[in-house]
Amino acid sequence: MQIAIDPAVESGPVQLPRPLGFGRVFTRRMFTRRYEAGRGWLDAAIGPYRPLSIDAAAQTLHYGQAIFEGTKAYPRPDGRLQLFRPDANAARFNQSARRLAMPEVDPADFVSAIETLVALEREWVPRSEGASLYIRPVMIATEATLEVRASREFLHYVILSPADPYFASGFQPVSVRVEGSHVRAAPGGTGAAKTLGNYAASLAASEAARAAGYQQVLWLDAAEHRFVEEAGAMNVAFVYGGEEIVTPALTGSILPGVTRDSVLRLAPDLGFRIREARLALDDVLRDIREGRITEAFCMGTAAVIAPIGRIGRNGEDTIVGRGEAGPVARRIYDTLVAIQYGQADDPYGWTRIVDTTAIAERSVA
Ligand SMILES: Cc1ncc(COP(=O)(O)O)c(C=O)c1O
Repeated sequence: MQIAIDPAVESGPVQLPRPLGFGRVFTRRMFTRRYEAGRGWLDAAIGPYRPLSIDAAAQTLHYGQAIFEGTKAYPRPDGRLQLFRPDANAARFNQSARRLAMPEVDPADFVSAIETLVALEREWVPRSEGASLYIRPVMIATEATLEVRASREFLHYVILSPADPYFASGFQPVSVRVEGSHVRAAPGGTGAAKTLGNYAASLAASEAARAAGYQQVLWLDAAEHRFVEEAGAMNVAFVYGGEEIVTPALTGSILPGVTRDSVLRLAPDLGFRIREARLALDDVLRDIREGRITEAFCMGTAAVIAPIGRIGRNGEDTIVGRGEAGPVARRIYDTLVAIQYGQADDPYGWTRIVDTTAIAERSVA
């Protein structure tokens, strides 16, 4: 894929605002390309970050035919930048595209769009401990028609947002509130795709959880309201006896997280057993109270690992691991973060150093 790079966009040193927070500050450039049925992907370009101009009848605005991804670029100790499993995000983007009747992308083009944009915007990667450059690839349906059918035109774009560490004040446990009536996703629905409607469906419950004093929603399955699925926009795991990590099996209504997959591959090498299972909430709460579950934690790109300290259900709280971050969550967090930031060897081949010298070869001016 050749990318036309607009040479007029300002480069050079950047004064990052403080605090950055998450998802509020955006870099100067964005990647775009469009798709037309019968012609394929066209006009790959990197130009100024700008408002999009789409028709008021664009299908994405009416029927939600849209998908996105989330990944990060990390500063290494040697000053170079690296990506973490962008190929896994490309695969999930295509999985989401298939579910939403959207065109797939060449995984190499998906990664090249990210890598070229990050290389150009390298000055925007915060160098402070634990900070990163969040990467948001998106695809939306742009055909102007109110007919309810798959669009024939799409826009694929990528934007970048420098972000503060998730745990600004140390590795702190989060609280979750069990959602008893709303569901995030149903069997046969779109829960395994990263599509906008899933997030829209989650907002009322997450606002209610926040108003009740909790940070995240603990989602149950749609059919029986019995089985644990996800925590907020993260996957979830429970630690039995300090040595076995159990996470809900992917049933089709759970997003297959890249972090979850990484934990499942890495944990056995740290001496933990892993298990994917249907986990009934009643059993989980009983096992916490009786001391069999020693820790619980969330897994996702933003936080990497977020320990769970408190689970609220119908106004009653169950405290996990004395409400503190436990050693298993800590060990996994430290191991994964060290790989992501290039501070430790990467025996899994997950990281990809951003080649800032090859921009010219990949691009046309
Ligand atoms: C609903 C949901 N579940 C789980 C995750 C974790 O996925 P990942 O580890 O790929 O960030 C995310 C975040 O992307 C999410 O939005």
